[in-house]
Amino acid sequence: ATAVTPASLLALKRSGAPITALTAYDYPTARLADEAGIDMLLVGDSLAMAVLGHEDTLAVTMDEMLHHARAVRRATQRALLVVDLPYGSYQISVEDTLRNSLRMVKEAGANAVKLEGGAAMASRVRALTAAEIPVVAHIGLTPQSVNRMGGYRVQGRSEIEAMTLLDDALALEDAGAIAIVLEGIPRELAALITARLHIPTIGIGAGPKCDGQILVWHDVFGLSFRNAPKFVRQFEDVAALMRKGLEEYRTAVSERTFPRDEESYHLPTNVHLPETE
Ligand code: KIV
Ligand code: NA
Repeated sequence: ATAVTPASLLALKRSGAPITALTAYDYPTARLADEAGIDMLLVGDSLAMAVLGHEDTLAVTMDEMLHHARAVRRATQRALLVVDLPYGSYQISVEDTLRNSLRMVKEAGANAVKLEGGAAMASRVRALTAAEIPVVAHIGLTPQSVNRMGGYRVQGRSEIEAMTLLDDALALEDAGAIAIVLEGIPRELAALITARLHIPTIGIGAGPKCDGQILVWHDVFGLSFRNAPKFVRQFEDVAALMRKGLEEYRTAVSERTFPRDEESYHLPTNVHLPETE
């Protein structure tokens, strides 16, 4: 299968074919997603919550993101690999943004980086694009803004907020973004932004009219240990499967039915050890 590129994502939008995206954080899950034909794999900073057990995404570091991104890179042959810039890695300056994004490309093989924010981030997007680093933008409910937002709330519900988000999206496209994640906004606003932009929109909690959809792996498989928001659909209950397997394993070891003789190594028949009782 030929590799997904920014140009092929654009072609999908133009043809009206939905773009499939999913987060991934390690080798086995990225391998499964890539083999399943998911177009875009995102090493999201949701790593902080989904995998590392943090309360929000703010604490995750560049080194932690790189560690997981490298594992996902080794597993990914077809999908476009996007890596999130963690909070603090692009807020200080354009120079810092470039330095940290170059690490994502050079040390982890990212095909693109993603950052949160609207028109205020256009200068970053422009500089990254000039440095040959494709950028995915992310507006609406931006989890790194949790302290400003005072929690996770749907954004763009008033006309003025909605029009500001449309302007943000247009500014990010103008700055060179290859795609834009729309998170936690009314479906009508996502439809408007999707219609006005030339670049693809990837929705999460943004309704069915986006050019693509993304979800967090652990939400898809019931591994999040949280009450999921309404936009989440759990496609399989992997936690239930794991609980069953864990119970069976614990019982088998406790009852000495694991390992069986055929799951054990044997001495060569000409070798004899002292008898045990
Ligand atoms: O970190 C993440 O998982 C994300 C997606 C939900 C878009 O940014
Ligand atoms: Na993210």
